[in-house]
Amino acid sequence: MEDCLKSLRSPHVEEVKKLMTEFAEHHGSAGRRVVLITSGGTKVPLESRTVRFLDNFSSGRRGASSAEYFLDSGYAVIFLHRHRSLYPYTRLYTGVNLLDSLQLETGKEDAGQILVDQNALPNIAKVLKRYQAVKAAGLLLPVEFNTLSEYLHLLKAAAQALSSIGSKAMFYLAAAVSDFYIPAYEMPEHKIQSSNGPLQISMKMVPKMLSPLVKDWAPKAFVISFKLETDPSILLERAWRALETYNHQTVVANVLDTRRGYVVVVTKDTQQELVLTDEEVQKEVEIEDRIVSNLTEAHSEFMSRQV
Ligand code: PMT
Repeated sequence: MEDCLKSLRSPHVEEVKKLMTEFAEHHGSAGRRVVLITSGGTKVPLESRTVRFLDNFSSGRRGASSAEYFLDSGYAVIFLHRHRSLYPYTRLYTGVNLLDSLQLETGKEDAGQILVDQNALPNIAKVLKRYQAVKAAGLLLPVEFNTLSEYLHLLKAAAQALSSIGSKAMFYLAAAVSDFYIPAYEMPEHKIQSSNGPLQISMKMVPKMLSPLVKDWAPKAFVISFKLETDPSILLERAWRALETYNHQTVVANVLDTRRGYVVVVTKDTQQELVLTDEEVQKEVEIEDRIVSNLTEAHSEFMSRQV
């Protein structure tokens, strides 16, 4: 892992690590649990002066909506997310053109007040109230990544920052992380030229972060990884294999096409299906509500076993 981190260009993580450490210590000493949520897909550059890159699929919706449910459950949240992926609360207005929902009160350019069309932004007052309460209490720390390199360095820094609060820390690793990368020393500096013919690239394997995270960086924390497959027939076997290999507490297994309404929460001894009915989908119930309530309960049991 250390070799992989060195061969990827290191972003400036020290400042962010300091912020995350202060955040964890502040909330931990107030008796609050802290969850680190990873969200969105990593980007792997193919050139140093990057024009082209490989991307991992994730809209960030799972991470962003889960952050809201964790906040509702009393957690403080470090939200390690891909730049411009979905964000807690504002995700509810994705696709809305903000300017279409605003109007100048007097029709004059310099009007002091701007009116909001509440039909264009449904539930805006309710959502704004929740967002402002979270902001005023300093319960949400957003941290952005773009590339795989940034993600790996920031995840390590976050794990070290959270180690001071022991079992009060939860890791909720919903990001879609690349398994392949090109080390900086093998990467062409300039844009790859199509005049050189078909592109052949050789990529190295990214070691799974879960290993050092569980063993070395935050050994007392409650750790949840996600397992995404497109073939349902191999999903559970892959989830069990992950638990055996990394020795963490839980895998949330999901299939790409059905992930909004069906997941399986897998531990070494249990396997629980969480399913939304058609009626619940109609009522806009979100599966993340169920996932988070299942995991916060499991976290309580985990903490009680540690003392
Ligand atoms: O964002 P949405 O559109 O709502 O979609 C949500 C989701 C489908 C992305 C999410 O539910 C999900 O399944 N995320 C994990 C997808 C994934 O990349 O799985 P994986 O098999 O590659 O990785 C398994 C676990 O190992 C993940 O928790 C990942 O964070 C972690 N990992 C992966 C690679 C790596 N080098 N190190 C890691 O620790």
